[in-house]
Amino acid sequence: MSNSNKTMFHVNQQPVQFDGDDKTNLLSVLRDELNLSGPKFGCGQGECGACMVLVDGQPQTACNLPVWSVQGRQVTTLEGLGTPAQPHPVQAAFIEERAAQCGYCMAGIITSACALLERNPRPSRDEIVQSLEKHLCRCGAHTRMVRAIERAAATTNSNT
Ligand code: FES
Ligand code: FES
Repeated sequence: MSNSNKTMFHVNQQPVQFDGDDKTNLLSVLRDELNLSGPKFGCGQGECGACMVLVDGQPQTACNLPVWSVQGRQVTTLEGLGTPAQPHPVQAAFIEERAAQCGYCMAGIITSACALLERNPRPSRDEIVQSLEKHLCRCGAHTRMVRAIERAAATTNSNT
């Protein structure tokens, strides 16, 4: 394990240097140091998926990831997936399907869905459901989320 207290990595394609304790969890660095409010704190134990981010394109829970482990790597949060003017197809589909209720789980789920469509542009319904297994939604909005991911896949595939 690294003992360095200088961790350098990229967040949403911008270089970042964190000078604090490198055992600090990545979620705290993103939210408290970089003011990125997309990833949410839920369980703090890697169990609910609210804090999901992409590390080199792979979904990872940020609450239980020490920042030293992303040294030199690319981290993407909800904010890096799209903008209000140019949303990612998954973000647009979630809006069109009105898939959010309270929205607390949304950033994590959208992030995982983007990763799913990146590795499998035509997922079956079962594969979509499986990709959401790590995510808890206290509002029970999973059915609309699955529909939104299917819509995003259809939109993306019709544009290719
Ligand atoms: S807050 Fe990270 S998995 Fe729940
Ligand atoms: S929409 Fe409320 S927790 Fe999922």
